Amino acid sequence: MTTYAIIGGTGLTALAGLELDQAQTFETPWGAPSAPVQRGHYAGRPVLFLARHGHPHRIPPHQVNYRANLWALKEAGAEAIVAVNAVGGIHAAMGSGHLCVPHQLVDYTWGRGHTFFEGADLEHVTHIDFSFPYDEPLRQRLLGALRRLQLPHSDHGVYAATQGPRLETAGEIVRLERDGCDVVGMTGMPEAALARELGLPYACLALVVNP
Ligand code: HPA
Repeated sequence: MTTYAIIGGTGLTALAGLELDQAQTFETPWGAPSAPVQRGHYAGRPVLFLARHGHPHRIPPHQVNYRANLWALKEAGAEAIVAVNAVGGIHAAMGSGHLCVPHQLVDYTWGRGHTFFEGADLEHVTHIDFSFPYDEPLRQRLLGALRRLQLPHSDHGVYAATQGPRLETAGEIVRLERDGCDVVGMTGMPEAALARELGLPYACLALVVNP
């Protein structure tokens, strides 16, 4: 049975219903993750959970140690990652409470630790294939669950990852829409790329919290 790791974002610092077996503290070559990795069972399945902004929520999006988070989850035994992200909706179809499982992203972040492939002991330069940033089978599993639960959602969309922590200007939102983006959040990158670098299938469940 696949061990899923859930990375909880704003509003999801603890996973209700998780039967907790252990909370494990990690120290990685990239530093400490945002919080201990919770290991437990959810509906009979092995699940790992990590609060992206810490527990309690105190780490802003641009200061999350994404590398340590992904490294720790891999070390804890994660085989696939479901990222839960609060987002803003860019157009009318993306009202508050709407869910979106993006199929693409555009990265506007800067200055974050965004790769494992750097440093003095690097053996060779690696360029991951990131044409399709989200794992399609995992996306389809998420979509199947949303359909079964009859929750209103979009089965595709383009996620704009912005730097934050400030929200965007009205002009920037116009630009994001022109760029083809549907939702905007501050935490989707470099998380997705780091998961790919570690060979972990990754998909995002975006919850619109402000239109
Ligand atoms: N913009 C960027 N990130 C966000 C927003 C937003 O409007 N809402 C929640 N996260």
